[in-house]
Amino acid sequence: MTKTIALMTGGGDCPGLNAAIRAVVRIARNEYGDRVVGIEDGYEGLIEGRYRELNINDTRGILRIGGTILGSSNRTDPFEYVGPGDTEPRDRSEDAFATLREVGADALIVIGGDGTMFLTHQFARGRIPVVGIPKTIDNDVHGTDYAIGFQTCITTVTEAIDKLHTTAESHHRVVLLEVMGRSAGWVALYAGLAGGADVILIPERTYSIEHIFDKVREREKRGSHFTIGVVAEGSADPAGEMIYRAQTGSAHQWKLGGVCFALAEAMQQQTSRDVRGLVLGHIQRGGSPVVFDRLLATQLGSAAIHAVHDGVDGVMVGLNGTSVRHVPLAEVAVGPRRVPADHEMIRAAETMGFYVGDPR
Ligand code: F6P
Repeated sequence: MTKTIALMTGGGDCPGLNAAIRAVVRIARNEYGDRVVGIEDGYEGLIEGRYRELNINDTRGILRIGGTILGSSNRTDPFEYVGPGDTEPRDRSEDAFATLREVGADALIVIGGDGTMFLTHQFARGRIPVVGIPKTIDNDVHGTDYAIGFQTCITTVTEAIDKLHTTAESHHRVVLLEVMGRSAGWVALYAGLAGGADVILIPERTYSIEHIFDKVREREKRGSHFTIGVVAEGSADPAGEMIYRAQTGSAHQWKLGGVCFALAEAMQQQTSRDVRGLVLGHIQRGGSPVVFDRLLATQLGSAAIHAVHDGVDGVMVGLNGTSVRHVPLAEVAVGPRRVPADHEMIRAAETMGFYVGDPR
């Protein structure tokens, strides 16, 4: 039976969102003759009633383009929404449902990260069939081995580490590259390993400056007069504090950034070697999706639309090995998926001689 599908992207953007939109629209149109309505700017557009029809022509040429043609918002909570002119947050979830009724939606497909999955779980509650598709460069969504966007992000970060090697070596510097990862260190760990960083600091572990210097000195003895560190933005500074660029809104909305500078400054006081910090920033969320993300987006987008037609509700389609599984949103909406203390990549890094911080 033909359906009207509301489709939206929520949370921070990433490469591969358009590939997922393309898969959903094309399969919905070609296989089921569905009508697909794209909600603009995530929950913000759902609340404010901004949407447009999506046809196959709208998806032509978007496979290789980063970002999302629908727009996204990463600070919108339908239950605590601060709209234009509002001074206080208001519960606008009923307005969001009103948009879905106006659209005539039979189901909602949401492409989002852990925060969006959490909101969607709270929001839908059996009132509209809902299927989630995981995306985030942070790769911290429960219920999937990989989220759309992660592989492209770590490719970008790895390229940055490669480039930093030559300049760090030429100037005999210690360079600390700060990467995204609010509460999970997947980006720092995986890109750090792929780029051959000597020091990798992630929020899940502590570290000491003395141990970082041990690594620097060990390298010096071997004739390597430079050191590259990768630091997740959610790592604490040497005094154990999180470093924020801005602290507006509720605490989970505060903008992290700058721990690499705090650490570089603290290290600089103890060495004559030049220590530099660098924040890679939103470049990590940009660019054309790598092949893996294009294929993952296609696989999960396809699985999501078939799930809707199979009458599945309240799940996220996640990658389990090479196949897709349906994970109840209740199991996904439990906060960010952090790097486990005994993760095999931490062990591999340590055994190979890198400093990956210390266990908590
Ligand atoms: O996409 C997730 C994320 O990249 C986090 O790692 C980071 O803290 C956040 O988004 C930053 O998003 P923005 O600066 O766009 O608000």
